[in-house]
Amino acid sequence: MAAKEAAVGAEQALRSHIIETQEAVTPVVLDAMSRAPNARLTEVMASFVRHMHAFARDVRLTEEEFELGLDALNRIGQATNDSHNEAVLFSDVIGFSTLVCLLNNGQNGATETAAALLGPFWRMHSPATPNGGSIIRSETPGPALFANCRVTDPDGRPIAGVEVDVWQASPVGLYENQDPGQAEMNLRGKFTTDATGCIAFRSVKPAGYPVPTDGPAGDLLRAQQRHPYRPAHLHFLGFKPGYKTLITQVFVDDDQHLESDVVFGVTRHLIGDFRLGTGPAPEPDVEGPWYLFDYVFVMEPGEAKLPAPPIR
Ligand code: BEZ
Ligand code: FE
Repeated sequence: MAAKEAAVGAEQALRSHIIETQEAVTPVVLDAMSRAPNARLTEVMASFVRHMHAFARDVRLTEEEFELGLDALNRIGQATNDSHNEAVLFSDVIGFSTLVCLLNNGQNGATETAAALLGPFWRMHSPATPNGGSIIRSETPGPALFANCRVTDPDGRPIAGVEVDVWQASPVGLYENQDPGQAEMNLRGKFTTDATGCIAFRSVKPAGYPVPTDGPAGDLLRAQQRHPYRPAHLHFLGFKPGYKTLITQVFVDDDQHLESDVVFGVTRHLIGDFRLGTGPAPEPDVEGPWYLFDYVFVMEPGEAKLPAPPIR
């Protein structure tokens, strides 16, 4: 009987939009939103409203919890500025960014290299660097890393002329824009694949790092007793007109947080092979241990487009 009354209430409300019961709210809102000229907007917002309303009913959201949630949203906005994007970070630590990334990439079988998060630290206009050059732009202590990467199409043919943007954290786990001790654009560089699809560069072995925890994302991690670490990785963005832009990361295989990335970004194929070098290093000034890293990226034909940079 109660269900029948609720259904009648919902039906009446659709005519007048006057709410009789909590059950009536959802169909009324969906009705109010159903006439947008943009069909995709209608589809996305209808699903969003259905899921949000179902979520509130599912957990019987209290008014105090609702206020807490709104406060967190406000603080996410307030914590976002030119050099930090808390909205991206919050989406990352709840696995939403990785979900959207995997939903939108790797659809065509196993041909292209798995995509991974752009993350909040990509900057446009990283310095063009000649093949074989170094992305160390200020003194950065740590094991030297010599990277040799190749970009091919799904049939294994080299793709020449791909712009490959590389960025990484330092061996103490900080990106240059987080660390006043590093030069502008340190550990960032843009390379162009040669006729054999190859790029090579010198860097330092990156370290894992905690994501920033001074905002709502950090509050959530603490409340859930989760560590804030990402395993060490290098970021790559491959761009060439005619090919689907590849945004990915390759992870250092000996990192202690490889299996518990705070942002759920590790895909098995993206675990790299970082080999400790033996004998003389490729360059004479190297002191101490050094590493070699080789990787083959596969790009598919498709649309080349750059994401909006999360920071300047
Ligand atoms: C990153 O890989 O740079 C990153 C990704 C998600 C959150 C924080 C950092
Ligand atoms: Fe990163």
